[in-house]
Amino acid sequence: MTRLKDKVSIITGAGQGIGRATARRFADEGAIVIVAEMNAAAADRTVGDVRAAGAAAQSFIGDLSTYAAAEALVEFAIAQFGHLDVLVNNVGGATALKPYHEWDPDDIVAEMNRSILPTLWCCRAALPHMVARKYGRIVNVGADSARNGLWDRAPYNVGKGGVMALTTSIARETAAFGINCNCLSPGFTDTATDRLVERGIRTAQASEYLQRLNQMQMDITPMSRPATSEEQAAAIAFLASDDVGHITGQVLSSSGGMNMQ
Ligand SMILES: NC(=O)c1ccc[n+]([C@@H]2O[C@H](COP(=O)([O-])OP(=O)(O)OC[C@H]3O[C@@H](n4cnc5c(N)ncnc54)[C@H](O)[C@@H]3O)[C@@H](O)[C@H]2O)c1
Repeated sequence: MTRLKDKVSIITGAGQGIGRATARRFADEGAIVIVAEMNAAAADRTVGDVRAAGAAAQSFIGDLSTYAAAEALVEFAIAQFGHLDVLVNNVGGATALKPYHEWDPDDIVAEMNRSILPTLWCCRAALPHMVARKYGRIVNVGADSARNGLWDRAPYNVGKGGVMALTTSIARETAAFGINCNCLSPGFTDTATDRLVERGIRTAQASEYLQRLNQMQMDITPMSRPATSEEQAAAIAFLASDDVGHITGQVLSSSGGMNMQ
């Protein structure tokens, strides 16, 4: 399939998990991929995946919780490839799991830095270029937990609820400029990397609690299994392509039916 042929595409947080699977899927669909990451080794690995699939790729290393990095990322894409077609805002992820009354104020700020600010900043940096060019596809990655108040991640849910609100606002303001902005809202996804270990959340002590939390989520998921990263990537590729047509400002749940309309 070549739906994304030659589309210059930024994918944030593409070093692992859903972002890495998305970069691979974009490569298979012919895109030119900019892997935006704060982890240089992970970025290199994904750039290798994309090039091995025969597509062009460059990495951009920076902390996208700052506006300066987001602006530099968009400038980098345009300097490298002349323009920007697609922005996938994938950076995010719960930084802690516990009831809201146990969260420290500093940790709440850290969650905002991870799960809403990179998306706010990258959209703000990319939109002037897309508006001037009268073309753009923005896919923001939300989380279905924001739609049902899933346990023990209130600040994350707030961040992802913000991502959904930003999606509809941008869609309304920019439809006249040839821009489609949608949100892919995953549920529990079986990412290859154990994110919770990486962030220092999972300990032997916490493991049983996390298993119980995941089981509670599966109990309310009709498909009774986590998604794969590849399933999320396929949905992101659709929303990034011209097949998206008349669809804008939508939140597409990809959560095994955990939330239904
Ligand atoms: N995995 C799930 O179960 C799940 C469920 C619902 C929603 N999501 C959402 O999907 C997206 C991807 O999830 P994942 O599990 O694949 O993520 P992950 O934690 O495995 O990977 C995130 C990547 O983003 C990078 N990153 C983090 N902060 C960054 C920053 N400030 N600047 C630049 N790079 C940064 C990390 O280095 C990492 O490579 C996230 O937005 C997450 O909230 C995931």
